[in-house]
Amino acid sequence: MIRNVFIATAICMAALGCSPASKGDDAPIAENGLDYCARQTERTLAQIESAGYGMSPRNIAPGDSTWKLCPASKELWTEGFWPGVLWYDYEYTSDEKILKAAEKYTEALKFISEIPAYDHDLGFIIFCSYGNGYRLTGKPEYKDVILATADRLASLYNSAAGTILSWPREMKSLGGHNTIMDNMINLEMLFWAAENGGKKEYADIAISHADMTMKYNFRPDGTSYHVAVYDPASGKHIKSCTHQGYSDDSMWARGQAWGIYGYTMCYRFTHDRKYLDFACRITDVYLSRLPEDMVPYWDFDDPEIPDVSKDASAAAIVASALIELSGYAGGEKGAAYLDAAKKTLESLQENYRGGDSCPAFLVHSTGHRPAGSEIDYAIIYADYYYIEALMRLKNLEK
Ligand code: GLY
Repeated sequence: MIRNVFIATAICMAALGCSPASKGDDAPIAENGLDYCARQTERTLAQIESAGYGMSPRNIAPGDSTWKLCPASKELWTEGFWPGVLWYDYEYTSDEKILKAAEKYTEALKFISEIPAYDHDLGFIIFCSYGNGYRLTGKPEYKDVILATADRLASLYNSAAGTILSWPREMKSLGGHNTIMDNMINLEMLFWAAENGGKKEYADIAISHADMTMKYNFRPDGTSYHVAVYDPASGKHIKSCTHQGYSDDSMWARGQAWGIYGYTMCYRFTHDRKYLDFACRITDVYLSRLPEDMVPYWDFDDPEIPDVSKDASAAAIVASALIELSGYAGGEKGAAYLDAAKKTLESLQENYRGGDSCPAFLVHSTGHRPAGSEIDYAIIYADYYYIEALMRLKNLEK
């Protein structure tokens, strides 16, 4: 993110002697989308600002128009997305009011860097907020918060297992040291820290984590398990299973999306071909099983499809990843990925927008269906990855 993905994409495309599929004809998708996001962001700010900067929007129930707000606390993993949305919106609009709000909501999260690590989601929380803030402002105090939080995240690394412990609170219920697919996204903060004044070994931790996740959170056919469990003392792999998916054997849509995004990002930092090839392989599995409108059902293997909820958040995460991956893959494959990203964004624009009735950018996401939570909701992380994808597409056209 901070190490500008668009520069990296351009370098990669130059190195591979390739160019994006179709420059120049995408302005309607990117700019139409970003203008829409700017309007919705204003509406959300007007709705929530009086609650204070420590309260961030989490979700909107189907048919509703009011954000449920959550306090900045260590109970959640989603507080970084709203400040992240504001940073992207500020990047697009240059609106000083949005900048001020981005700073305030970001700075409400500083406490995360000051408390012991309780969960792997520190990267989601701090890199989407402070990470984007530092990328756009270069404020040294933002960098300090990122580096301090990287230290906290690294403290969850278990060298016997070779991975970061995702959920300390679930050690007992899951039967050991657990590593979930979502954890791939938190590696971005470690890679970045290693290159920007943090400990160099954080890159080794990220690489080990990515390699073990590749081994134990995926099946031979490229579909993913949500969770891998290891013996905390010996590091031996015990089992792979699900937590938020339909079953241990199914492909949970957002889990696969985190994998696609995560291995694409690993290639950005390492330039190790293994990660690029793997990102392409798991992307191809995902794309080959999508419904016609490019937005997956919450789990690809729910036997009740098509009578189950979709997950627009997974589609937005993958659209963003595909724009980056298209530059690394290059050639016909890269062109196909960019085309898939654009088709996804068009579909989200046409049929998944909150629109006038709901201030969220997107509706129809699924949070935790097995727990009966956030089914067919507007959820803040869908909005974050949607605006990120639109900015990536816009910057690709520069
Ligand atoms: N990181 C939790 C989720 O994707 O729902």
